Amino acid sequence: MVDEIYPFDRVVNFIEYYKKKKIKYYDFGFGNPKEAPHKKVLEACTRAIMENKNKGYPTAIGEIYVRKKISSWMKKRFNIDINPLTQISVTNGAKGGILRFSLTILKPGDYVLIPTPSYPIITTAAIKAHAKIYFMPLKEENQFLPDYDAVPKTIIKKTKILWINFPNNPTGAEVSKKYLAKLVHFCQENKIILAADEVYIDLYSKQKPHSVLEISDDNVVSFFSLTKSHSMADYRIGWVAGDKNLIQKFQREESWMESGVPSFIQHALVEALKHDDYVKKLRREYIKRNMTLSTALSSIGLQKPAYRGCFYIWQKVPKGQTGEEFYNKLLNLNIISIPGEWLTETINGKNAGKNYIRFAMVSSLKKTIEAAKLIKENRKMLLEN
Ligand SMILES: Cc1ncc(COP(=O)(O)O)c(C=O)c1O
Repeated sequence: MVDEIYPFDRVVNFIEYYKKKKIKYYDFGFGNPKEAPHKKVLEACTRAIMENKNKGYPTAIGEIYVRKKISSWMKKRFNIDINPLTQISVTNGAKGGILRFSLTILKPGDYVLIPTPSYPIITTAAIKAHAKIYFMPLKEENQFLPDYDAVPKTIIKKTKILWINFPNNPTGAEVSKKYLAKLVHFCQENKIILAADEVYIDLYSKQKPHSVLEISDDNVVSFFSLTKSHSMADYRIGWVAGDKNLIQKFQREESWMESGVPSFIQHALVEALKHDDYVKKLRREYIKRNMTLSTALSSIGLQKPAYRGCFYIWQKVPKGQTGEEFYNKLLNLNIISIPGEWLTETINGKNAGKNYIRFAMVSSLKKTIEAAKLIKENRKMLLEN
């Protein structure tokens, strides 16, 4: 997988082409938010640059007042007590955090259980750590939930980390607290680290999701990010929280591998966490876009997605077509998506994402309405094999 072109780079090339040729396009490819962060976040960041001109290096694991703010946000959001000194480490987005956490924890030959499709860094990180990967395909018949009970016992015995991601990219799957409790119990019983990627925890469509850390912080860690919920992709900021032994180990390694997130960005995080109103508005906007596009797709006869969804639509393509074929048809309309296959591993010749495409809700509502209209107008072309 790591020898191939990164899936999102492929669609970025299209966007550059469209821009150069001044062609109108509809971008639902790379989940790259287009909104500006809250005005107060911009102000806090600018102010911090001006007031700390001679600052020097930031703290590799995050300034203490920043970790305290994160801890109080987690108390408010999840009603949990997370020690800011020993249980939180600030990271340059979830991507960097996941990579370095994997490199810190995994030893060559350890097994890692990874759902597929999934965000690619989890797999890349395991490969870089020379770990062995056991993929858990996300299938419609299992409500797109990883079937960890089906993993052979011999693999379970050698497993170091099990990864989950809810609300899920790309399937949109959301789970109950009961589901998480069962999973935590399974991991603790088998001495497996449960690593949750919870970067979409506030971009949900139904009920407010629970964090795994509400169940336990024993051998459990969770990754958070402001990229999507606060439209701060460019800031590269997030954090990992959880089990104090694992986090302290990670904190020690961080100084060897990183020099920390710039302190003015850390100021921006503190400000962003004060604005739940911003997140709520953004969530509603994404749901509106999602409804608009998924209604159009269903109206031309495609199967309704299993989850209502917020940031993504995981759409089954027409019978007789692959995701890649449908993706190419949409490109004829200058609509960019991502074929499911690009995000999914092929196991024993089978690819669970082959008949799907992913739409990321990163085009404005106006453009989403236009794209929905184009899809309806081109029903025949899109459906014919
Ligand atoms: C599931 C998932 N995890 C992590 C990330 C990366 O987040 P960040 O921008 O914080 O590195 C993404 C980005 O799309 C994602 O979808």
